[in-house]
Amino acid sequence: MKSLMNGKGIPMKIFVDSANLEEIEESFKRGFPSGVTTNPSILAREEKCDFKEHIRKIIDVIRKYGPDRPLSVEVFTVDPKEMVAQAESFVEEFSDYSELYIKVPIGWDELWVIHQLRQKGIKINCTCCMSYNQAVMAALAGSNFVSLFVGRIRDSGYDAFEIVKQTKDTFREGAVPSEIIVGSIRHIMDVNQAFQAGADIVTVPPKFFPQLVKNLKTDEVVHQFVTDFANWLR
Ligand code: E4P
Repeated sequence: MKSLMNGKGIPMKIFVDSANLEEIEESFKRGFPSGVTTNPSILAREEKCDFKEHIRKIIDVIRKYGPDRPLSVEVFTVDPKEMVAQAESFVEEFSDYSELYIKVPIGWDELWVIHQLRQKGIKINCTCCMSYNQAVMAALAGSNFVSLFVGRIRDSGYDAFEIVKQTKDTFREGAVPSEIIVGSIRHIMDVNQAFQAGADIVTVPPKFFPQLVKNLKTDEVVHQFVTDFANWLR
């Protein structure tokens, strides 16, 4: 998986937080993403279609640009037994895809779901975590990824990046092997702050990607270089 180290020796990865095929392809063709996250609301923004066929199309786009990379697909029920059944059906349907992660929201019954699925070797992204305690419990139950939703944490009045930092400090002790995904990104500063706080992965809505590389001074200097050289060539 493509990753850089931040100043603290932590690998940094960006995932695409989308189920839109064009957005995913526009991102992957630029080489920087290491994975894709979806959720039921994100999928519901797409034109109505067969859900599994759509996930298959996402897999095809990812594979067009390299090896299998983590793709998170979320259960869409609140019943724990149904969660297990849905997760198993996703795993069966996409058994040829080595990097499928089942998103299970954090919760008391959901810890049972996570434990059941992990015992069967199914990879888990425990999602909708809003607190340090939730993240730690998700990790202790065996989640491979733990997703902290910084935008929504801030909406409820807490210091989202302090929670990311505390979670990372605890995970770094080596107590759990889980990686932290920071999601619920609301503006580009969230991406910077997430990495600075120790996120292993930031999952970003694609509308922010062009903004992450845009800078008016860059535009100005590129224009200057091209103009100066064109005048000299004349
Ligand atoms: C992460 O995996 C989620 O898909 C996402 O970031 C949810 O955030 P939001 O619904 O607050 O935008």
